[in-house]
Amino acid sequence: MKSSRPLWTPSSRRFPGLEADLHADVAVVGGGITGVTTALLLASAGKRVALLETRHLGAGVTGSTTAHLTEALDTRYHELESSFGAEGARLARASSRAAIEKISELATGIDCGFERVTGYLYADSDSQLSQLDAEVLAAERAGAQVRRINEIPLPLPVRGAVEFESQAQFRPLDYLAGLAERLAATKAQVYEGVTVLDVETKGQLRLQTSTGRSVTADAVVLATHAPFQGLQQQLELAQYRSYAVAGRVAAPFRGLYWDLADPYHYIRTVTIDGQHHLIVGGGDHRTGTIPEGGPAAPYWELDALAAKLGVPASERWSAQVAESADGLPFIGRLDSKVELYVAQGFAGNGMTFGTLSAMIICDALLGRDNPYAELYRPSRVKPLASAAAVVTENAETAAHLVAGHVKPVSDEPLEQLPIGEGRIVKSDGKKLAVYRDQDGALHAVSAICTHQGCQVAFNPMECSWDCPCHGSRFDIDGGVLDGPAKRPLEKHDVSQR
Ligand SMILES: Cc1cc2nc3c(=O)[nH]c(=O)nc-3n(C[C@H](O)[C@H](O)[C@H](O)COP(=O)(O)OP(=O)(O)OC[C@H]3O[C@@H](n4cnc5c(N)ncnc54)[C@H](O)[C@@H]3O)c2cc1C
Ligand code: FES
Repeated sequence: MKSSRPLWTPSSRRFPGLEADLHADVAVVGGGITGVTTALLLASAGKRVALLETRHLGAGVTGSTTAHLTEALDTRYHELESSFGAEGARLARASSRAAIEKISELATGIDCGFERVTGYLYADSDSQLSQLDAEVLAAERAGAQVRRINEIPLPLPVRGAVEFESQAQFRPLDYLAGLAERLAATKAQVYEGVTVLDVETKGQLRLQTSTGRSVTADAVVLATHAPFQGLQQQLELAQYRSYAVAGRVAAPFRGLYWDLADPYHYIRTVTIDGQHHLIVGGGDHRTGTIPEGGPAAPYWELDALAAKLGVPASERWSAQVAESADGLPFIGRLDSKVELYVAQGFAGNGMTFGTLSAMIICDALLGRDNPYAELYRPSRVKPLASAAAVVTENAETAAHLVAGHVKPVSDEPLEQLPIGEGRIVKSDGKKLAVYRDQDGALHAVSAICTHQGCQVAFNPMECSWDCPCHGSRFDIDGGVLDGPAKRPLEKHDVSQR
């Protein structure tokens, strides 16, 4: 069972490449929901904006999302209360609500299926009921309109649930295309197929790009989802693979549904060109590791949940989610010395957090106060937050960094490498990542990640080489699929081995 592709139809490239140096008030790097919304809000406020995207708009995680728009955050309210206090939890809730309302406002006039729906967080075992009860109280204290109920409007056996009023859903790429259309009508300059390789921060901010052209700017916004190579802050984020499956349903049902498993699962329906589809997501595990139950286990779990709703899955896909150690994203200026802004660590709430990032960063650049900026400040010091969580996340990363250099490699002859499989071998003292394709040909690349030197691991579901340290991913010929790595893995010839 391999991944296929997301349900959403990707747009093709419509903006030019960068052919000359230029200057902008604000350069935005990354054309997902975060970058496009940021560019649009800033351009609409009169800023000269340049948006640079390495592939095409929506080609990143935004093209693989499941697009629940919700205040029911991945980091539960009772956890937020203990890390950020009652006021922090209240602000997290209010800011997520503000983002849903901003999306509602921006979606007006865009044919993207935006609609208000009720959300249901449900317990399917008695042992989850205390967690559910803690959550309904904490969500209420945070200001959410919630209600404790015993049943949900889905044919699933549940022991109890919390109803979240007035959540929302949409079709993400149609929404993004609508925003891009509006952006194109402003004075903003949008470039696709342009990779930002480096951001010089000494003196004038300057972006070095893959085209050899550079962009200078008074401020830079990194909306790249993965941490940008070279920034210290990346060590506080961990990347996870997250999965989704979809299949046809006769009629859509209303609502967003999330269970309390760890990792959790979630459900919605969507109508695309008159056809109704069920989407079931979840099964997250750390990138570069094999999930419990084997590589295909997340898909089996999601298929089984879809089957309980009478739907055979026909599409399957996965992509990255980035999680911060304390459970809230980093949004805003990195430090007081440089006009460099980041927006990362959204976990499974990036539609709203990405939009919120645009609102916070836009206010900062326009000199306006934003009531949520302090909560998400990248350099935040959290008096109540558990330092242990940060240390654990970093320790795991550090452990992989070391283990990457000492892990045993396979000494089986390469002739025995089966079709469709990958293996780490040693050749002339170098560790190589070797894959045999469907035609029997071998593809060999360096097994050492170009980010910070960890050893990559084969991901049989995506046929990719994934790095467990900070989540970079590479295709079988070494090309970068996901950052923070920006350089490909070096190719090698093993035909003489
Ligand atoms: C399976 C799955 C389901 C999800 N479901 C939900 C959900 O239901 N609700 C929700 O709110 N969130 C959900 N999320 C999370 C959400 O989709 C993401 O957090 C969000 O899409 C991130 O948007 P972004 O714009 O920050 O990143 P992206 O969409 O990844 O955009 C970043 C862009 O930057 C570009 N880029 C990267 N590096 C460079 C560079 N050096 N130069 C130029 N361009 C660069 C990339 O090509 C990419 O297009 C889900 C995620 C996954 C994986
Ligand atoms: S992603 Fe950081 S070392 Fe590979």
